[in-house]
Amino acid sequence: MKKVSIDDIIFFRNFKFFRGAKVKKRVLSGMRPTGPLHLGHLLGVLKNWLSLQESYECFFFVADWHALTTEYENPHNIKEFTKELLLEWFSVGIDPERAVVFIQSDVKEHAELYLLLGMITPVPWLERNPTYKEMRENLRDKDLNTYGFLGYPVLQAADILIYKAQLVPVGIDQLPHLELTREIARRFNYLYQREVFPEPQALLSEVPKIPGIDGRKMSKSYGNAIFLNDTPEEVRRKILSFITDTQRPRKSDPGDPEARCVAFQLMKLYLSEEEKEEVISSCKSAKLGCRDCKQRFAEKIIAFLTPIWERRAKLLQEKDWFDKVREGREKAREIAKQTMNEVYATILSAKSAYLPV
Ligand code: TRP
Ligand code: SF4
Repeated sequence: MKKVSIDDIIFFRNFKFFRGAKVKKRVLSGMRPTGPLHLGHLLGVLKNWLSLQESYECFFFVADWHALTTEYENPHNIKEFTKELLLEWFSVGIDPERAVVFIQSDVKEHAELYLLLGMITPVPWLERNPTYKEMRENLRDKDLNTYGFLGYPVLQAADILIYKAQLVPVGIDQLPHLELTREIARRFNYLYQREVFPEPQALLSEVPKIPGIDGRKMSKSYGNAIFLNDTPEEVRRKILSFITDTQRPRKSDPGDPEARCVAFQLMKLYLSEEEKEEVISSCKSAKLGCRDCKQRFAEKIIAFLTPIWERRAKLLQEKDWFDKVREGREKAREIAKQTMNEVYATILSAKSAYLPV
């Protein structure tokens, strides 16, 4: 009788696959725990995660080591923000029973792969990374002249490659890191002559422009954000302080919401077509005053956030809500360990590395 070889087993799996057993693509993404989430994160990132969770095998993790690359002088917040982030993910509907949810530093293999990938990553690749240069420019109050910060994308590559993720939903600022991940994967496979790492694809989502109270992009560091953990009173107060059409000092002046009103730029992301039309026409005809308009909108946002707040309160009542990451951690560790075995076997069995010409 013919012996069953490894090839047969792989074929068998493929066979099952072709017979219609649904193999879902693997998606992975992470967030740095550097503060509470705001409406911008919800509309820009979490909304996408929620829909991916429906049809893919998703891995979502808190990138606490990545947070340390910039917050190494204030590390005490990271733990607290990590818990807060998980609480917020769960309360908006990230489901640890469907997605693999975990904390980066719980899976030490990320650090191990990071170290090994560091061996083959040329420093100039890191130095020319535009996101690296930009962040160093923008965060001038921090000393980011560190080895860890330069290596940030190598750690990110390890996060992605250790699970052989195929799709990585990220914002546009992360594209250089994704490209670097692909380059590192290619270099590894080439050097050690085995296709260990698939090249991941970025899943670039179109993020609507989300303005904060002052009209600049909504961001914690600008102090203009509405946070998911704000109280209804805070939300009301913040919405009422949104800048409106500055060329409309009195209600009797006709306004132009689309061209001149910051508050409207946020509103239009939440209002139905009819509601939008109604606001536009009553503002243009000077029938609607800004205070009334924003007050109405505040109640709408509060209604939208209320179920999130309720789920959050409920989770907090369950003393062991944090246990929800246990299963994700175990699953992540298992896969990460497998990959590391494969990586070591590959490196050690390669006769001699090919050097790219
Ligand atoms: N660098 C990402 C950010 O700042 C966070 C992150 C870390 C990440 N590791 C990742 C995102 C892996 C996607 C995949 O937003
Ligand atoms: Fe903006 Fe509403 Fe005031 Fe018009 S009425 S300017 S849409 S806040």
